[in-house]
Amino acid sequence: MSRTITLLPGDGIGPEVTAATVRVIEAVGAEFEWESHVVGAEAVQAGDEPLPQRVIDSIQRNKVCLKGPVTTPVGKGFRSINVQLRQALVLYANLRPTLSIPGLATRFEGVDLVVVRENTEGLYSGIEHQVVPGVVESLKIITEVASTRVSEFAFKYARANGRKRITAVHKANIMKLSDGLFLECFRQVSKRYPDIEADDRIIDAMCMNLVIRPETYDMLLLENLYGDIVSDLCAGLVGGLGVSPGANLGEDAAVFEAVHGSAPDIAGRGVANPLALMRSAVMMLHHLGHVDQAKRLETALLHVLVDQKVRTRDLGGTAGTHEFTEAVVRAIEAA
Ligand code: NAI
Repeated sequence: MSRTITLLPGDGIGPEVTAATVRVIEAVGAEFEWESHVVGAEAVQAGDEPLPQRVIDSIQRNKVCLKGPVTTPVGKGFRSINVQLRQALVLYANLRPTLSIPGLATRFEGVDLVVVRENTEGLYSGIEHQVVPGVVESLKIITEVASTRVSEFAFKYARANGRKRITAVHKANIMKLSDGLFLECFRQVSKRYPDIEADDRIIDAMCMNLVIRPETYDMLLLENLYGDIVSDLCAGLVGGLGVSPGANLGEDAAVFEAVHGSAPDIAGRGVANPLALMRSAVMMLHHLGHVDQAKRLETALLHVLVDQKVRTRDLGGTAGTHEFTEAVVRAIEAA
């Protein structure tokens, strides 16, 4: 019996990149039933909640979800679906590998970094209020439980994946209590993993170091907001948002999605790069234990990139989403 996976195509470029990704997953012979759901503005237009309960139920039932990006209204409107999903399903670790791609010229070579972002609290708790007109408060929630479990995740991941060093990134010199607690939990957990080097950097210095010597870092652990910003910075080190995959992981469920958003500026034009979501699908296949199919897809993606004949516009080429996808399918079939 084939496994069922929840599919959230999302909006903007989401439906384009998810359709392309499903096509290559099927090309490697992975047989899944897709349970597709609409969320965000499209769900609201259909008279539903932005994040209907049946979507959460579907992911809880299937345990795994492949997700396209979803637009979040700025300054008003519904709360981010992405944040709500991560909180509702307790997907506490956001894993974002950042790897230089062979054949893709960028400012840096040899970048091989893994970013782990705490995914459930910090300033994304969404607790904001107006004290008096002209003054608002936004609360940054940091708990021992969440900081400890994400630190545990990072050290376990390091051990399982041959990583040697984790750098915690914080601003504990200014936010002594909140970032201080995050850092303290990291240090406590690090004592149980003497085989993994543990150090820390202040977020501002870290940003400078990342754009000078990114190859000197191995794994980074950050609270939610810093992780959001730094993972886009890291995407920029290795070719941009079009190439950077991600996974949101918890004890009971996993949602695989690219780092990028819904890219309204290019939506519907057939030019979006589906590579980031395809690489997220490689992570999903590994997570499901489909190691051979994961390797086949990864090898095909690398083949197309190294070959350099078919590239999307964000990587300096002229190919559209469809052309790139078909090149990947041909590479899978030829292997
Ligand atoms: P964005 O990531 O959508 O776009 C930033 C820039 O990168 C744009 O110029 C876009 O054209 C380009 N880009 C992004 N992905 C690309 C791809 N696959 N191929 C080629 N070019 C690509 O970030 P932006 O504009 O800040 O956000 C747009 C919307 O997406 C917002 O509503 C935001 O809240 C939402 N968003 C959703 C996320 C999610 O669903 N996980 C993550 C990040 C943002």
